[in-house]
Amino acid sequence: MQVPLLDLKAQYAQIKNDVLKAIGEVLDSQVCIGGPKVAELEKQVAEVSGCKFGIGVSSGTDALLASLMSLGIGSGDEVITTPFTFFATAGCIARTGAKPVFVDIDPKTYNINPALIEKAVTKKTKAIMPVHLYGQMADMNPIMAVAKKHNLYVVEDAAQSISSVYKSKKAGSIGTCGCFSFFPSKNLGGIGDGGMIVTNDEKLAGKMKIMRDHGQNPTYYYNFVGGNFRLDPIQAAALLVKLPHLDKWSQARRNNAEYYNKKFADAAIKTPYINPDCITIYNQYVVRVAKRDELVKTLRENGVGCAAYYPLCLHMQQCFAYLGYKQGDFPEAEKAANEVLALPVYPELTDEMKDYVVQTVLKNLK
Ligand SMILES: Cc1ncc(COP(=O)(O)O)c(C=O)c1O
Repeated sequence: MQVPLLDLKAQYAQIKNDVLKAIGEVLDSQVCIGGPKVAELEKQVAEVSGCKFGIGVSSGTDALLASLMSLGIGSGDEVITTPFTFFATAGCIARTGAKPVFVDIDPKTYNINPALIEKAVTKKTKAIMPVHLYGQMADMNPIMAVAKKHNLYVVEDAAQSISSVYKSKKAGSIGTCGCFSFFPSKNLGGIGDGGMIVTNDEKLAGKMKIMRDHGQNPTYYYNFVGGNFRLDPIQAAALLVKLPHLDKWSQARRNNAEYYNKKFADAAIKTPYINPDCITIYNQYVVRVAKRDELVKTLRENGVGCAAYYPLCLHMQQCFAYLGYKQGDFPEAEKAANEVLALPVYPELTDEMKDYVVQTVLKNLK
């Protein structure tokens, strides 16, 4: 049996006709940039996220970059974030000219440990960028308390966590702004790259809309330097078809996770910890095992898709050597990087497939 980590074709089969129709409408209209589909998606994603404004952008990466640029963050500034995340989080900080400052994670949730943030604040700190990893939101209340005390922006990297909940609030709605990715593997994935920023700050939203169009306002007049961060209407059209299914798909992921949790209850494997204040969307179902790399090999040999997100912390990446961090600086993140393993959790998994994953894992655990 083959169980891939993700099967996009299984999802597409359910919505193919609607997606083709929606894309056909865009093609017939020949509105190839911006237009009503992008505006409608911005409205709906903002609504789903409990925010007033949505700004469609070209990727989750550009959502982060455009957010930092719109907040005026750049050379000489510091932004605090986690070393245990996808590269784009810190990559965008560095691209503005600011310095990424890392803080270790909470080993249970894998999200930034709020208790360690204040020690990392300096006179240069301008923002905190918590990441809601794997679908579960970071512990936002203490993060917001530090931000308030030191007058810092909070940019939520919610790329993996659209519609996730923390104390009844949606991802992206607590900080200054929130950033989503529509990369195809996300719970709400496009048919290519795409992203969105959400915020309740009207002035900031206005600036972000200008930022995504080179800083142009009015046409051919530029008061600041932005970029081409625009979202394609073809992506918006496909995402508008998928958005009404999002809650159902995320619930199916939670059900699959529940199934695994029960089956792994007595095994030498740590199942995901979900903060009781949170509702996760399980963009990834991530377990911890001691001999991870050996297990990855045997699972793949037996047709079970799996992956380590992420095998090398950002403070240990070559491109960030100039920051001067060394091994041992963030022990919890480094330990997690050696032990985490994502198993297939996508909504279309059948009982037979889940059972095969469980049996294969249990048989090969050392
Ligand atoms: C935590 C995190 N931040 C940022 C991104 C960047 O999003 P994108 O791939 O849409 O540029 C991703 C997506 O892979 C992500 O997982």
